Amino acid sequence: MCRAAVRGALRCGRCGFCLAVKGSCAMLNNFWYGLAHGSAITSIPRQVVVMGRPLVLYRTAGGRVVALEDRCAHRDTALSGGWVEGNCLRCPYHGWRYAPDGACTEIPANQPGVAISRLAKVETFPVQERHGLVWVFLGELPEAQRPELPPLPEYAAPGWRAVRGEFTWSGHYTRVIANTVDMSHAPFVHAAAFGRKEAPRIQTYHIESERWRGSASIQFKTKPAYFLKLVLGQTPPDGSITSTFHLPNVTQVHHRFGRIQFILFLVHVPVDDRTTHTCWLHLRNFVTHAWADPFMHRDVVRTFRQDDSVVRLQPPGPVPEQLGAEVHAPSDGLEVAYRRLRRLCGRVEWASPAQNPRITEGASP
Ligand code: FES
Ligand code: CO
Repeated sequence: MCRAAVRGALRCGRCGFCLAVKGSCAMLNNFWYGLAHGSAITSIPRQVVVMGRPLVLYRTAGGRVVALEDRCAHRDTALSGGWVEGNCLRCPYHGWRYAPDGACTEIPANQPGVAISRLAKVETFPVQERHGLVWVFLGELPEAQRPELPPLPEYAAPGWRAVRGEFTWSGHYTRVIANTVDMSHAPFVHAAAFGRKEAPRIQTYHIESERWRGSASIQFKTKPAYFLKLVLGQTPPDGSITSTFHLPNVTQVHHRFGRIQFILFLVHVPVDDRTTHTCWLHLRNFVTHAWADPFMHRDVVRTFRQDDSVVRLQPPGPVPEQLGAEVHAPSDGLEVAYRRLRRLCGRVEWASPAQNPRITEGASP
């Protein structure tokens, strides 16, 4: 948690990201945040809002993605309204030009012999592309100490096919993450699809945690629904679901029905207290032809709409800092683990692998 947020500021004066809610920080620093699909970032600048703070992403002539604060140092104009020239970004108002390191390198109206002020710069953020996504580091750690990204070996593995999309939720990103690691809502929220209302019980499960991630698997009986009906038939075999969260903003749900597998890999971009923008990947190892992609896309969006119908009924802002503020059942163990780890990271302000907090609890909250 950022210190300015601890002091109770509504908005952190240091990093600008943290909306303090009851003294806690809504955003964890020193993490890579997945913020966009790489294919969506081109030479046309694109604004991405992170916890109320706008960033601009663009791709240079050399193919590299750059992330800058979306605010011209001159008159606060959004640089995303400008255009890319080579590796630089030109402000649309008076044409100041910014290099990828955030420094202004040209002021067209400058009188001859006038140097560019060293204050003429905007903040820049480290970027990397992995799994077809753009990841931006929002903290202050040097490169060697930054955490690694969540692994997704199936993305590049033979025999798998990916569909990607975006979805906007009416809820804080921590509520969206809690929903996607929630093991017990399918019989109710997804009753019209794959949820089986007559079988709501969740078996006891074990939570594995390592560094900033937590994971749990349960056996899963599904109803034939959507595209899976064609693949699994009218009486689908029992399967399993492995749900995983990776701090700060990634969740993954891995379904297995015998040899048939599919994975939802989700990066939940925190926009504000009641908005989350999710960039999602759906990977499958069956019917890997392109003609099936629109069906997969439609099924994923339908499922998200069902989830959003309940997330939007929750209060705005992050999940409560105090675990006791809401009542948990043992079947909520993975979600509770997420809350615990998030709170722990916020308290120690994660800094290096040696300081990684761990959770060691089982499923009981
Ligand atoms: Fe950007 Fe003036 S506001 S150049
Ligand atoms: Co759901």
